[in-house]
Amino acid sequence: MDGVLNILSLFSLLLLLLLPFPSYSLPLCTSLRAPTSVKGRLAFCPYNGKVCCNTAEDLQLRKRFDAMNISDSACAAVVKSIVCANCDPFSAELFEVNSSPRSVPILCNTAAGAPISSLSSQANNSFCSSVWEACKTVPILNSPFAPALQTKAELPQNATLSTLTDLWQSESDFCNAFSGSSDEKPVCFNGNPASLNESDTLPPPKGICLEKIDNGSFLNMVAHPDGSNRAFFSNQPGKIWLATIPDQDSGDVLGLDESSPFVDLTDQVHLDAAFGMMGMAFHPNYATNGRFFASFNCDKEKSPACAGRCACNSDVSCDPSELSSIDSGKPCTYHVVVAEYTANGTSSTPSKAEKASPVEVRRTFTMGLPFTANHGGQILFGPADGYLYIMMGDGGSKGDPYNFAQNKKSVLGKILRVDVDNIPSEEDIVKHSLWGNYSIPQDNPSSEDKQMEPSVWAYGLRNPWRCSFDSERPSYFMCADVGQDQYEEVDIISKGGNYGWRVYEGPLVFEPQKSPGGNTSADSIDPIFPVVGYSHSNINKLGSAAISGGYVYRAQTDPCTYGSYLYGDLYASHFWAASETPQNSGNFTATDISFSCAPDSPIKCESVPNSDLPALKFIFSFGEDNRKDVYILTQSGVYRVVRPSRCNYACSKEEVITTTKPPQASPSSGYVMAIPHIGLMLLVSAVLVFMDLFL
Ligand SMILES: *[C@@H]1O[C@H](CO)[C@@H](O)[C@H](O)[C@H]1NC(C)=O
Ligand SMILES: *[C@@H]1O[C@H](CO)[C@@H](O)[C@H](O)[C@H]1NC(C)=O
Ligand SMILES: *[C@@H]1O[C@H](CO)[C@@H](O)[C@H](O)[C@H]1NC(C)=O
Ligand SMILES: *[C@@H]1O[C@H](CO)[C@@H](O)[C@H](O)[C@H]1NC(C)=O
Ligand SMILES: *[C@@H]1O[C@H](CO)[C@@H](O)[C@H](O)[C@H]1NC(C)=O
Ligand SMILES: *[C@@H]1O[C@H](CO)[C@@H](O)[C@H](O)[C@H]1NC(C)=O
Ligand SMILES: *[C@@H]1O[C@H](CO)[C@@H](O)[C@H](O)[C@H]1NC(C)=O
Ligand SMILES: *[C@@H]1O[C@H](CO)[C@@H](O)[C@H](O)[C@H]1NC(C)=O
Repeated sequence: MDGVLNILSLFSLLLLLLLPFPSYSLPLCTSLRAPTSVKGRLAFCPYNGKVCCNTAEDLQLRKRFDAMNISDSACAAVVKSIVCANCDPFSAELFEVNSSPRSVPILCNTAAGAPISSLSSQANNSFCSSVWEACKTVPILNSPFAPALQTKAELPQNATLSTLTDLWQSESDFCNAFSGSSDEKPVCFNGNPASLNESDTLPPPKGICLEKIDNGSFLNMVAHPDGSNRAFFSNQPGKIWLATIPDQDSGDVLGLDESSPFVDLTDQVHLDAAFGMMGMAFHPNYATNGRFFASFNCDKEKSPACAGRCACNSDVSCDPSELSSIDSGKPCTYHVVVAEYTANGTSSTPSKAEKASPVEVRRTFTMGLPFTANHGGQILFGPADGYLYIMMGDGGSKGDPYNFAQNKKSVLGKILRVDVDNIPSEEDIVKHSLWGNYSIPQDNPSSEDKQMEPSVWAYGLRNPWRCSFDSERPSYFMCADVGQDQYEEVDIISKGGNYGWRVYEGPLVFEPQKSPGGNTSADSIDPIFPVVGYSHSNINKLGSAAISGGYVYRAQTDPCTYGSYLYGDLYASHFWAASETPQNSGNFTATDISFSCAPDSPIKCESVPNSDLPALKFIFSFGEDNRKDVYILTQSGVYRVVRPSRCNYACSKEEVITTTKPPQASPSSGYVMAIPHIGLMLLVSAVLVFMDLFL
């Protein structure tokens, strides 16, 4: 049976690697950056507002177009529109950046069975036929439609004149090649700026039904990377547990033994109101390499290993000796640490390990904090790139006095992205002034912006408190960012994006009271504003608010919540569901969501006095298991989102099921099979058949 489990976990990993990521849209440029605003219209391409070209790039495109020397005006018009698609805010989608870049965007084509469901009705769904008709006999110099160029962005050096009929046998060959009909893409190019189906919307849920499955107070939950029905939970003092997740409707509680943690790091962790173990992450290949990471705070005065460079240093025009005049506290005494550990040694295969050694394998990151708050601390592996993302707040003190979040040279107020698979030598770490044992991914923003500290992925954040990747669309990197006095926000993080703090607090201009580290003017930046958020005054008369970011809900359990981004507020016991209108547009609208506790909850929920609301107390964070079920980690325990009918919420999409206890499946098989992807289901059945035959 152990062998079966191992093979299953290996297969589940393999399957995850083999599966192409589903398509996504969201306005993103081919560089995977968010579109930026141009003032007025571009001179050549008919785009304005938030676009992917600046004036220099627009000029380049004009040169590229002129070089084709197209004499026929109808053909010239369609080719111009194709060249200009590089400026389209959906160009990342049109030019298929994640598989391979193309010279021509994906052209809309009904004939070849290309997607139409997300296109607006006015769209010309067979644009590739129009291109063929207009250009089939028109000579084009260095034609972008040459077969060899289909997957390459560059043009060859030697000039050749060709017509479409020289290059392609027939219209259907041409359309098959350029319509990308094998992918179910929500966006294709129809000659006009890409648009989405305005009526393709998802109504918000009527409410979310919760059950309580544990009394413990945890900060983090991470699904076991082997795909099984297990997850890691960690608390602020510094312990990690490995727990078994009960099946939905089983009536069981979380299988977690508080007296037997997976690993106990409390000796290394400095615990205080704002300090402790803030995050943990398991390497994507954890099931075979046993590598995992913890993010915590340490106190230099208590622990000799707690020694890193101070974030306040001459590189960022900050003098540590002046810090205590700005704010009380002990500058650079407390550190943010990301350290690596291993589950090797306690089991023949790491995926079976139920204990790990608290001995640090490697120091991934250490940095001294200027003040005592806003240091984020969540760590996450990117599902598409395998890099480690480190969420870093501005370091604290009201209004980010040193303007760290806007300073591209500072690591504070940033989302960092580092490679922990290629560890440089100590010599190189010193030479490149790295903050630990990591290397810089080649395509980090610093590759294009030399001002940017190399580890930075995005900037202008105050205190990112809980980020997640939509499990169906990895470009939807959702981060909640805690505000100062007025506004709590949710951002979609894109490469190199500036999220505005402290020039803006959410969409509002922020007036800093102290600026020893200089000032950034609103005119000098092009911030990306939150997709949703809320004012403090709207939720709490006392004004206390702190957002807790959650997940885009992707479980089958509550089909009426499927596709909505769920988040809450730490203090206010308040939840929102943000739904996208139209789908794939990045245009979100938040709705207040009522919630209640299922009467048959395995652990009875206590109620807020004089109300039916469950007394959740502080909402620390959210979690997601391998079935994509969503959990809420609160001061009073662990809650799970369950079928809406258990709380009598109306949801016509919910299948009526009989509540008999499901058979006890082996952990891995039960979970892998539950992943709602037909392709995967077929593959898994094939694997199970294969195993029946050979084991
Ligand atoms: C462009 O086409 C015109 C005829 O339409 C021709 O006279 C000219 O030489 C061509 N230019 C190049 C660079 O091939
Ligand atoms: C737009 O979306 C709606 C709802 O999903 C669908 O019924 C309709 O067919 C779509 N329209 C087009 C043109 O695809
Ligand atoms: C263009 O250059 C490529 C390689 O550089 C060569 O193989 C090809 O024959 C050239 N074509 C023409 C028409 O000269
Ligand atoms: C959780 O706490 C409640 C109330 O203190 C108690 O009745 C219950 O037994 C506890 N359940 C578990 C599983 O620890
Ligand atoms: C853990 O085991 C894996 C697989 O044998 C190996 O690649 C890795 O280097 C080991 N890690 C440590 C820290 O020993
Ligand atoms: C790299 O890791 C080693 C082993 O933990 C540690 O001694 C060293 O200080 C780390 N380097 C940095 C810059 O943190
Ligand atoms: C910082 O810049 C803002 C906007 O330009 C301005 O309103 C504010 O007075 C400046 N603050 C300081 C302390 O210079
Ligand atoms: C964004 O969503 C709102 C409400 O859901 C809708 O009214 C608006 O038209 C949408 N905007 C765009 C650009 O689609």
